[in-house]
Amino acid sequence: MLLLKFALSFLIINISNAATLQKKNASPVADNQNSLSIGEYGQAPVLLQDSHLIEKISHLDRERIPERVVHARGTGAFGFFKATKNLEEITRAVPFASEDKKTKVFVRFSTVIHGNHSPETLRDPRGFAVKFYTEEGNWDLVGNNLPVFFIRDAMKFPDLVHSLKPNPVTNLQEGKRFFDFFAKTPESTHMFTRLFSPFGVPASYRKMEGSSVHAYKFVNKDCQANYVKFTFKPREGVKNLTMKQIADIQKDDFNNLTKDLYENIKNKNYPIWDLYIQIINPDDKEKFDFNILDATKIWSEDLVPMQKIGELTLNEIPGNFFQNTEQSAFAPSNMIPGIEPSEDRLLQGRLFSYADTQNYRLGINHNYLPINAPLAKKIITNNQDGAGYSPPRKDEINYEPSSYNDIKDDNEYGFCHYQINGLVNQGRLTAKNEHNFKQAGMFYKSLSKDDKAYLIKALTKELENVDINIKNTICAFCYKADIDYGIRVAKQLKLDIEYVKKIAKKYID
Ligand code: HEM
Repeated sequence: MLLLKFALSFLIINISNAATLQKKNASPVADNQNSLSIGEYGQAPVLLQDSHLIEKISHLDRERIPERVVHARGTGAFGFFKATKNLEEITRAVPFASEDKKTKVFVRFSTVIHGNHSPETLRDPRGFAVKFYTEEGNWDLVGNNLPVFFIRDAMKFPDLVHSLKPNPVTNLQEGKRFFDFFAKTPESTHMFTRLFSPFGVPASYRKMEGSSVHAYKFVNKDCQANYVKFTFKPREGVKNLTMKQIADIQKDDFNNLTKDLYENIKNKNYPIWDLYIQIINPDDKEKFDFNILDATKIWSEDLVPMQKIGELTLNEIPGNFFQNTEQSAFAPSNMIPGIEPSEDRLLQGRLFSYADTQNYRLGINHNYLPINAPLAKKIITNNQDGAGYSPPRKDEINYEPSSYNDIKDDNEYGFCHYQINGLVNQGRLTAKNEHNFKQAGMFYKSLSKDDKAYLIKALTKELENVDINIKNTICAFCYKADIDYGIRVAKQLKLDIEYVKKIAKKYID
């Protein structure tokens, strides 16, 4: 009886799914298993007129699109953001307009350097990109799990990426290349110290933080501005992998983070993060001994307290990886009224880079792809045509101003004005010291005994095959950050600590 029921249900499923396979022009396919030919198998070549064969193969030939130049390996999920505070006083951004307001989100987690199917156990920063679908357009908060970055000026980004990517001759990723770059880039000390600490390999996407890294501006309806940094804190706490766990997982599984996230969402154990902000009034900018708009710096909580403003929950696995996760286009330039960029030079470069790469990766109409489309049913723009899908457009008036329609811009949504007096110049970031090492030292001091030992082990292992002069300089940076840190790196690498100290003297903090 049970067997009969099972057979029946199978039949019903089969019948309800029954349909004739079609070609792209929706005409029926006669044979999806055999090519059109003459006579018996092997007697004659295949006929060019088999348009189904040609269409089927040529579509497969074009299945891949360029992968992201960085952050290629990613995992996406839908969910929602719920405000827990009305922030109208400091921002007009709609997701924060009232307590309990819900906004739909799509989140993509990622690793940075290696390709689309690379192992998720690799030491790398993790991307934490959130697309908020709001009533006033999409807002993308494109952050990382680590709260700082290697560099502070976008000019250096392509070089940083080249040093971290595999050697262009051998295709091998080599510590000697990226440490060569770091040794000439003292501001990278804070980030590489965090990267080689346990935080460089999270145990789960559900158990890592997300940071905006940069300051943005919150502006209210009266154009009062405040600098603001965002931090997502996981409800389940932060958890990283030990070195033994990394090795154990990696030999059997290279999808550990995706599996963990999706299994938990499937089992309705939805991951939740609390969203916190830190605020600095622009008038207080000069009160800090470091440049608050330098992406190699955190705003430590004892200087700038965090306040909770909302909760992020992920509860839905996208129905199709390519159409959602792969085709998603996050861009820091996707902002909404109430959120503006700060003057951070790294952020300023990012405002250009993302939409530019997406125009190449996905085409000029990528904003119409369902995953990137805003809540608004229609995007009112005078942009016209271009490769890739764009929705049917019947308007004859694709310019403005015009006497034939009433579509115009609205000054109410313009960036808030602010005064700048200064010299156009290159290379002088701040009158203050760069403080390339101090916060790396603070981070080192904050680590437990075991985590310090982990950092020394992971860092020196990667430095083993690096030229001696680069080893010495990197060790001098560690020494500048914290004397104990430098001495332990020197000891492990058998370096002459007196010589390391001499190099360290050349650098001011
Ligand atoms: C000037 C500095 C930077 C430049 C020029 C840059 C450029 C890029 C580019 C070209 C992509 C690929 C985008 C795509 O194909 O859709 C990307 C992805 C990404 N970047 Fe950056 N990046 C910079 C710094 C940063 C920083 C500081 C962070 C963290 C705060 C960050 C986080 C991300 C994330 C999370 C993604 C992946 C987004 C996704 O999931 O699709 N990047 N970046």
